[in-house]
Amino acid sequence: MENKHCMHTATCGELRANNIGENVTLCGWLWRNRNLGSFCFITLRDRTGIVQVVIDPDKLDNFGDVSKYGREFVLQVQGEVRSRGEKDINPDMPTGEIEVLASEVVLLNASSTPPFEIEDNIDTSDDMKLKWRYLDIRRPEMLNTLMFRHKLTHALRNALDKRGFIDIETPILANSTPEGARDYIVPSRVNPGCFYALPQSPQQFKQLLMVGGIERYYQVARCFRDEDLRADRQPEFTQLDIEMSFVQGYDVVDMMEDVFKDTFTDMDIDIEFPLQRMQYSEAMERFGCDRPDNRFAMELVDLSDTVKDCGFKVFASTVQNGGFVKAINAKGAGNWSRSEVEKLTQIATDNGAKGLAYMLFRDDGSITSSIAKFFSDDEIAAIKEKLEIEPGDLALFIADKYKVVCAALSALRIHMGNALGLIDKTKHSMLWVINFPMFGIDEITGKLSAEHHPFTHVLEEDMDRIESEPLNIGSYSYDIVMDGCELGGGSIRIHNSDEQRRILRVCGLSDEEIDIKFGHLLKALDLGAPPHGGIALGLDRFVMLLAGRDSIRDVIAFPKTTSASDLMTGAPNKVDDAQLEEVSIKTCVNCEKQK
Ligand code: AMO
Ligand code: AMP
Repeated sequence: MENKHCMHTATCGELRANNIGENVTLCGWLWRNRNLGSFCFITLRDRTGIVQVVIDPDKLDNFGDVSKYGREFVLQVQGEVRSRGEKDINPDMPTGEIEVLASEVVLLNASSTPPFEIEDNIDTSDDMKLKWRYLDIRRPEMLNTLMFRHKLTHALRNALDKRGFIDIETPILANSTPEGARDYIVPSRVNPGCFYALPQSPQQFKQLLMVGGIERYYQVARCFRDEDLRADRQPEFTQLDIEMSFVQGYDVVDMMEDVFKDTFTDMDIDIEFPLQRMQYSEAMERFGCDRPDNRFAMELVDLSDTVKDCGFKVFASTVQNGGFVKAINAKGAGNWSRSEVEKLTQIATDNGAKGLAYMLFRDDGSITSSIAKFFSDDEIAAIKEKLEIEPGDLALFIADKYKVVCAALSALRIHMGNALGLIDKTKHSMLWVINFPMFGIDEITGKLSAEHHPFTHVLEEDMDRIESEPLNIGSYSYDIVMDGCELGGGSIRIHNSDEQRRILRVCGLSDEEIDIKFGHLLKALDLGAPPHGGIALGLDRFVMLLAGRDSIRDVIAFPKTTSASDLMTGAPNKVDDAQLEEVSIKTCVNCEKQK
C-alpha cells in the first residue's frame, strides 16, 4: 500500500526482515496489549495485517498510559524495526520475524470496549456483527473479502475497457422495469400521487443507450428488488450490466468468455475454457434445474416407461395421467438407515412433491424399501440397470408433473451431493445454459409471463407461433451458471416494435397499458434501433462463489437482514407526518395501529 500523504510511513502487515533497521511510523488499532510489568507488547493492526510493538519504559515517557491502552484504541507508533531473535520468531505471523521497538506512541483516539473481539472465527451472532458492521469489517476475513471484491470488479472493468465498453450511469429514480420482483417505489413531492420505481435492473436504459449509438456499454449497477430474501438474494444488490449492438446468436456469450478468461488470468483463478453450452431442455432433463451443479454426476433418470404398469399405484397412475417418474442414484448411501432416508421426504415435499419413495440396496444384496414389494423381479432389474445400481446404493424416486419431479429431485440431488461429500468445493465449474423458453407460467399469479424478460428476442423459427403456442417457443437467451448458482443472465433483444408489442400483449398487457408503460421503448425501436443484446452478472454472487463464502451478505459491506432491514442504522424507519404530507401520503389504518 502507498504510504504517501498520510500519517504513516509503513503499514503493519507488510514489514519483513528486510525492513530491519528502518525507522517507521505506523498507524492502526490496538488489537492486544500484554503488560508484563517491566515491558509491554502491543499488537497493532491495520488493513494489511498485524505487527508486534515493544513498549520499553526506558524509551517512552508515557509508558504508564500506553500500558493501560485498551482494545481498539487508535495509535500512531514510531519506532525501529528490529529482529525478534531466533527463539522468538512466530512462523504463524507474516511479520513474525520482526518487531517494532517504539520510540513514540501517540493516542489518536480512545475506544470504548467493543461488543466483540476483532478476530476471525469469533463466537458472536450474525445480528451482532450486522449491528456493529464497521467493527466486523475490521476483521481480516471481511477486509480480505472486500479487497477481493475490489480486485475482481477492477479486473472485469479492465477486460471490458480493453474491448471498447464504456461505463455509463443510468437513473436510480426511474420507471418500473419488470424483472420478476416487486418494485421499491419512491413518492414524488412535486408530482403529488406519482411515484418513481427504483430500477430492478437498468434493462430499458441500456437498450436505449444502444439506440443512442453507444454500441458497447457497461455499468457496475445497483439494482433493487422487493422479493423474498435468502442466502443469494439481497433487496439491493450489484450487477455488472453489459449491452452490445450489432450482435446476434451467441456473440455476447462468446465475448463474455473472453472477458472471463482475461479476468481469471488476472485473478489467478483456474477455470477451463471453452465453457460448456447446454440447452435449457437438456439441463432440466439431466439435472432437474436450469442452474446445474455439474461438479458431480447423480443425474436424473426417467423411469416412466419402466414403471408405467407396475403394482405401485402412485407410479403407475402418475404415468398414465401424463406425469413422470424419475429417480436418482445416490451412490454409496445404500447403507443409510430407513429413518435417515425418510428425513429426506421433507426436502421433497418442500419442493412440491407428494412424497418420496426409495430403495436402499444393501451390501448383502437385500433391498430395504416399503415399495419394493410392488415391483416384479424384472421391473427391479430394469430399475437397477437404468440407474446403474450397485450394492450400497440408494435410489430416490419422485412421481409427479414434470416440473415438480424436476424441482424435488434437483433439490435432493444437491442435498445428497453435499451429504455424501461428492462436490469438490475447491474447484469451480462454469457453464452456459442456453435457449430458455420464451414464456412460463408465473407461480404466484398463475398467468403467462416472460421467462427471462419481455425484451428477449424469440427464436426466428418460432416467430409465427408466439400467440398460438406461447408455451412452446424458444428465445435467444442464456444464463451463466457457476457451482450450481445462477451467476448471470442475458439475451438478444427485440429490436422491432411489432415483435415487442406482440410479446407484451401475450404477457397480458392491453395496448393502452403497453403505450403507458413501454411507449418510450416502442418509439425508440421505431427510430433506428440496432440489433443488440447483453447480459448482467450478479457481482455479489460472483464474489461470494470465488471467495468461497456462503452468503452474499458476507461480501457486501453493509447488507440487509432477511427481513430487509439494516440493523446498524435501523432502516427502514418511520417518517414523521409532516414529511409524509409533503409527498402527499397518508399511512393506512393498519400501519397507524402498529405505530
Ligand atoms: P436477472 O434478473 O437474471 O437479469 O439478473 C441478473 C443477475 O443478477 C443477480 N441477481 C441478484 N443478486 C442478488 N440479489 C438479488 N435479489 C438478485 N436478483 C438477481 C443474479 C442474476 O443472474 N436485465 C437482466 C439482464 C439482461 O438481460 O441483460 C437481468 O436483470 O446473479
Ligand atoms: P403410500 O403408499 O402413500 O404410503 O406411499 C408409499 C411411499 O411412496 C411413501 O414413502 C411415500 O412418501 C411415497 N410417495 C407417495 N407419493 C409419492 C410420489 N408422488 N412420488 C414419490 N414417492 C411418493
